[in-house]
Amino acid sequence: MESRLFSPMTIRDVTWKNRVMVSPMWQYCAFEGFPTDWHLMNLGRFADGGAGLVFQEGTTVERRGCGGRGDLAIWDDVYIEPLRRIADLVRANGAVPAIQLMHAGRKARQKVPYDGRGPLEYCEDIKDWDAWELIGPSALASEGADVPREMTLSDISAVVQAFADAARRAEEIGYDAMEIHGAHGYLVHQFLSPASNQRGDRYGGSLENRMRFASEVVEAVRSQWPAGKPLFMRLSCVDGGHGGADSPPYDARR
Ligand SMILES: Cc1cc2nc3c(=O)[nH]c(=O)nc-3n(C[C@H](O)[C@H](O)[C@H](O)COP(=O)(O)O)c2cc1C
Repeated sequence: MESRLFSPMTIRDVTWKNRVMVSPMWQYCAFEGFPTDWHLMNLGRFADGGAGLVFQEGTTVERRGCGGRGDLAIWDDVYIEPLRRIADLVRANGAVPAIQLMHAGRKARQKVPYDGRGPLEYCEDIKDWDAWELIGPSALASEGADVPREMTLSDISAVVQAFADAARRAEEIGYDAMEIHGAHGYLVHQFLSPASNQRGDRYGGSLENRMRFASEVVEAVRSQWPAGKPLFMRLSCVDGGHGGADSPPYDARR
C-alpha cells in the first residue's frame, strides 16, 4: 500500500499538510510561566523542518498545576500575547500550531529532571510560592513526592473552570488544535486511576465516577473551543504495576 505519510490530513475543519506530528515536550525553560526565545526557536524549527502539526509542550491551566518552575502558563490573560508569537511563528512556517493543556495535580512543584526530580524545596525568589499548592483527588503522594491536599468539590469546579478559561485563551491566541493531558500521572490521570483516586464521592470508586472529572474537563473545554477545531485527549492506558487502571480488580476494560 502506498504510504500516506506525506498526504494532507483533515480533522473537523483543520487540515495539515502531512501526518508528521510533533509531540508535546516540556522544555523546562519558561520564566515565571512566560515563553522565552528558546520556545520560539524550538517550535519554529519543527515547523520549518516540515512537520504538519506542532504541539507546544504541556501548558499549565492553573498556578497550582505547574509541574516545575520552568513550565509554560496559560492561566491568565497576561500570557496571551507572548504565546501568540509562538502560534504565529509555527503557522507562518507551514505547520498547524497546537497546544496541550495540563495540570500536574499531586505531581506539581517538582525539581527538573536534570536536578534529580523530587519535591522542590522552598525558593525565596518564587513570589507566589504559597499559591503553588499540591492538590489531588486523594491525599496520597506520588512516588518520591509530597502528600497533596485532597481536593474539595469547589477545588474540582475551579480546576474544570481553569481548563475552560485556558481553552478560551488558546482560541484567542490562534492555536488550531488542542490536546488535554490526561496521561503520565498528572491530574486528569490521577482521577482516572484508582491508585491515586480513593475518593468516596461521585468522583471516585467506579470507573464511571473516576471518569467524571475528565468528562467535565472535556465538556468545559469544548464549550470554549470552536466545534471546527480538533480536540484530543492523551491517556495512559496502562498504569504499569502500580495498582492502577489496568490492574485487577480495577480493569478499565470491564
Ligand atoms: C523532554 C521531554 C518532555 C516531554 N514533555 C511532554 C509533555 O509536555 N506532554 C506530554 O504529553 N508528553 C511529553 N513528553 C512525552 C513525548 O510527548 C513523547 O510521547 C515521548 O517522547 C515518546 O515519543 P513517542 O510518543 O513518539 O514514542 C515529553 C518527552 C520528553 C523527552
